[in-house]
Amino acid sequence: MDKTILITGGAGFIGSHVVRLFVQKYPNYRIINLDSLTYAGNLENLQDIESAENYTFHKADIRDKDAMDEVFNTYQPDGVIHLAAESHVDRSITDPLAFVYTNVIGTANLLEAAKRIWAGNYEGKRFHHISTDEVFGALGETGFFTEETKYDPHSPYSASKASSDHFVRAYHDTYGLPIVMTNCSNNYGPNHFPEKLIPLCILNILNNKPLPIYGDGKYTRDWLFVVDHARAIDQVFHQAETGTSYNVGGFNEWKNIDLVRELCKQMDTKLGRPPGTSEKLIEFVKDRPGHDLRYAIDANKIKDELGWEPSVTFEEGLSLTIDWFLNNQEWLKQVSSGNYMQYYEDHYSSR
Ligand code: NAD
Ligand code: TYD
Repeated sequence: MDKTILITGGAGFIGSHVVRLFVQKYPNYRIINLDSLTYAGNLENLQDIESAENYTFHKADIRDKDAMDEVFNTYQPDGVIHLAAESHVDRSITDPLAFVYTNVIGTANLLEAAKRIWAGNYEGKRFHHISTDEVFGALGETGFFTEETKYDPHSPYSASKASSDHFVRAYHDTYGLPIVMTNCSNNYGPNHFPEKLIPLCILNILNNKPLPIYGDGKYTRDWLFVVDHARAIDQVFHQAETGTSYNVGGFNEWKNIDLVRELCKQMDTKLGRPPGTSEKLIEFVKDRPGHDLRYAIDANKIKDELGWEPSVTFEEGLSLTIDWFLNNQEWLKQVSSGNYMQYYEDHYSSR
């Protein structure tokens, strides 16, 4: 094997797509998937590649410094792609400290372990931190986030991610750790956990349950197909200059209400229901506190410098996503039980 790459959070939504891409595209890399399997981690996401020779799963918690030191001693990774995180804004509002422990302290534990094991010998080494556009705060009706936009996080989630980004840059500036970073817009696609807007609505349309739209539904997000995010991570990991960051986005803005209406339309067609059936499920509910009005990424730097751009249109990506959920209803059933349903009850019964 040429290199050992440690991917954290590889059992989650985006992480599983990154693990699959690396395992399949780089047979000469040994890929270690490190994940503690929280409610959001599901090894079923990786069933198709779990017996690949270059793939190993290692269950461990990034909050545990000793465990991270042991993992780095055992595998001696050349590269780290760090996706493990608490990722849901609404959960961060009810339990902010969980986000501090995993997103801030967990990231610092990984940076420390990498610094120690690489010990200043950074040739061929790389720490790629995966972050979000939410660190930049909220836009008005116009404008875009660039790599130079000042950080201005509002939710406990985005504050924890901003803090982790600052630690990653601090380790570069202070110790010379060879970092790169990507800040991506909202992802959607197969294996998306049904607490986020798109998979939640797909699940509820299937079950004829209400589609909860926060506030007036005019909040705007820039949506990117998850496989295209994984491709961007691959390119930045391999091609970017050390110390740099790239914004990744879909050039694809939707107001929540328009997006959910489009989803209803496509679902009605695919399910053979009369047009307008699913839209009747839309319900406007109490707004999210501190709800950011609009996120929009200027992804021209990664496009111009690395030649990356989305490979599918939103129409294609959404259709692929719906088809995946329709063909994987067992997966949906499995992840919609247990912990997740308890959270769902707690969160929506009072809205
Ligand atoms: P996810 O919630 O689906 O998955 C997170 C994964 O991390 C899970 O497998 C979970 O088990 C694991 N994990 C959580 N806490 C852990 C811990 N303490 N130790 C080890 N593993 C732990 O998240 P996602 O949507 O796949 O996001 C992955 C990364 O991408 C996150 O860093 C997130 O901030 C970032 N991101 C997400 C989006 C998005 O739209 N989902 C957009 C931009 C950036
Ligand atoms: P979400 O998928 O949670 O991602 P993020 O908060 O990281 O952008 O939410 C996307 C948008 O959809 C956001 O504006 C909040 C809104 N939303 C709803 O209107 N209803 C819901 O049930 C959820 C989960 C989100």
